[in-house]
Amino acid sequence: MSAHQVMVEAARTATVVAAWRSGLLSRLERGTSSCGALASELGLHEEATRLVLEALAAFGLAERTEGGWRAAPCITERGAAENVDELARLYAHLPTLLASGETVRVDRDESYVRVTPRLGEMFQSAAEALAAALPPVDGLVLDVGAGSAVWSLAMVARSPDARAVALDSAAVHSAARARASSLGLSERLDTLAADFTTAELAAGTYARVVVANVLHLEPAHVCERLLARISPALRPGGELVVVDVLAASPERAAFVASYALHLRLRRDGARVHPAAEIADWLERAGCNRPRLVSLDSHVPGMGALVATIRG
Ligand SMILES: C[S@@+](CC[C@H](N)C(=O)[O-])C[C@H]1O[C@@H](n2cnc3c(N)ncnc32)[C@H](O)[C@@H]1O
Repeated sequence: MSAHQVMVEAARTATVVAAWRSGLLSRLERGTSSCGALASELGLHEEATRLVLEALAAFGLAERTEGGWRAAPCITERGAAENVDELARLYAHLPTLLASGETVRVDRDESYVRVTPRLGEMFQSAAEALAAALPPVDGLVLDVGAGSAVWSLAMVARSPDARAVALDSAAVHSAARARASSLGLSERLDTLAADFTTAELAAGTYARVVVANVLHLEPAHVCERLLARISPALRPGGELVVVDVLAASPERAAFVASYALHLRLRRDGARVHPAAEIADWLERAGCNRPRLVSLDSHVPGMGALVATIRG
């Protein structure tokens, strides 16, 4: 990176933080307004507001129209502004994390009830692509830490003889039920209220087990233990499918590093695991070496490792 780029990156970060803290970003998201009206409404200095608006526009976050300024589509598209708000809040905690290693305090269930429907929308196209890349499944698909069950429901939608079983805390099941209902799949979803670190799973029962965006919540030794305890639940020939952002591709380094910070801000021990390490855990859990299905064109760095249980 050149010295100029360093300046741009520093300005980009500071501009977004200032626009978020002053309320400018969420005000732009709510509708178009002139610079003067924005400054007076938010109690800001007008000339400085114009400079910040121009910088936001140059960074692709705001647009100038005949009627004034408004947020760019990447902010106004469904759920994005809420996301920016949540991300800004989260990254604002970074100095504390840096000084003390302390994570943000959140009520986990409450946060997942809010976030998982949004994750469902965000992962929908990746989930459909994964379902299309795998053979149809005949039997039960256990979705571990299911959230909205976006991954298992996409599989069930393509497989007339499959049912999804969403394992998550009871509070989060509403997200899975809502998604199943929107897809017309309510009759093919079961819910299992349990903690995946202790749940008793009947051996040899499931045609496929999906572990999507769960391993990044846990340190390596917990992930390995989790895969080892769920793999016996697969029936002969069954598949264990791990979906996550994988620390594999150098061109995604900036995204993966941002995501790693994002995870660690929320949870001690959370990290982005390399694909090769997950593959080793799967093998030690009794599976064949997995194949990788890249989902990078849908979510940067995301991939699925698909392993069949050893016979
Ligand atoms: C990041 S979300 C991923 C949701 C979904 N798999 C997806 O990809 O959109 C993690 C999910 O794991 C669930 N979860 C976390 N720890 C859990 C545990 N110990 N037992 C059961 N579910 C858990 C959370 O409630 C949340 O729904």
